[in-house]
Amino acid sequence: MATQTETLRADAAPTTITVSAQEPTKKVAKTEVPGSAENKPKIRRIIDEEPNTTASPQYPHYLPTWNHGEKYPPWEPFTHVEHGKDADPSFKDLLVEGTKLTHLTPTTGSEVTGVQLSKLSNAGKDQLALLVAQRKVVAFRNQDLADLPIQEALDFGSYFGRHHIHPTSGAPEGYPEIHLVYRNGNAGEFESFLANRNSSVSWHSDVTYEEQTPGTTFLIILDTPEVGGDTAFVNHVEAYNRLSPAIKGRLHGLTAVHSGFEQAEFSRSRGGVVRREPVKHSHPIVRTHPATGEKALFVNGGFTRSIDGLKKEESEALLNFLVNHIGRGIDYQARVKWAPKTVVVWDNRVTSHSAIVDWTTGERRHLARITPQAERPFETPYVPDVAVKAA
Ligand code: SIN
Repeated sequence: MATQTETLRADAAPTTITVSAQEPTKKVAKTEVPGSAENKPKIRRIIDEEPNTTASPQYPHYLPTWNHGEKYPPWEPFTHVEHGKDADPSFKDLLVEGTKLTHLTPTTGSEVTGVQLSKLSNAGKDQLALLVAQRKVVAFRNQDLADLPIQEALDFGSYFGRHHIHPTSGAPEGYPEIHLVYRNGNAGEFESFLANRNSSVSWHSDVTYEEQTPGTTFLIILDTPEVGGDTAFVNHVEAYNRLSPAIKGRLHGLTAVHSGFEQAEFSRSRGGVVRREPVKHSHPIVRTHPATGEKALFVNGGFTRSIDGLKKEESEALLNFLVNHIGRGIDYQARVKWAPKTVVVWDNRVTSHSAIVDWTTGERRHLARITPQAERPFETPYVPDVAVKAA
């Protein structure tokens, strides 16, 4: 996704502070909006904005750029093949001999060593999709994805769905399918980040305003602070499971609006790119995962704006309850500590996440996301708990 917000609701509201590679504003004159300045550079590069502010980047070819000439038409629907669905649940092609799988918490998150993602067979990739759907987020250590040519990393990711192109974030030059997260983390930036908010925590699922939202999603570390800058994940299946049968029953059948308009407006307001005109889509509030059959709450603080068919106060009250319920469930969250060459894979259909902006050392935090889109969210009928049936 893109940005952090004060309200956890409008990820591109004027008060938003970005954690993704949003275009820097420091040197942007007010009049310098797309199309308005004859001599505006067509491609802006972070390296021109802040050279030498921290030690040299490990992966300079991944530094963010923004191409103001780049525009895309609306997405067309595509048929998503869910590879996790037919995967061998023994994981024999993924968790091969020498692999170590450690669970971070009982329900949520795992860590794997001894697997090279880029070398997986198709059967192994199918099992990866299933494992991630089951565990919600899995951190793979000692990966070579960042060291491969960018196109090879994209080819690997394309197995899992059509690459999403982020409407506003920075991308390596020539590779708009890569979404970049970039932050220097110096003390001044940290202070300004917290000037209008008490915490950097901002739960969101990525780009849920799309008709076909991301599924198996990859985040590749490029530069990381030694301590700090973790990413936290929350399990939306478990969040759903914790609800009472009465509330579950009420939520089924409801849909909510997810909007990308605020994000686009935020980018425009600071002279940034908008590669594709924004959209909004209604999705079921309870979504079924196609591989596991699990039901998950599908609302998030970043992009879900209102519940269809409810009056404003009702919609706000119910959404606030759900978003707060998801955010406070430390007993169904996991936190990943980054280390060089880590790749974190999560299932964006059944989780939300938040970067944690807590370091002040000036170390660069730079990550590349590969974001394959999956099916249009769907729901399956509510099956009441046994206790409810008996009553
Ligand atoms: C994202 O929002 O996709 C990136 C999360 C992070 O920066 O840790």
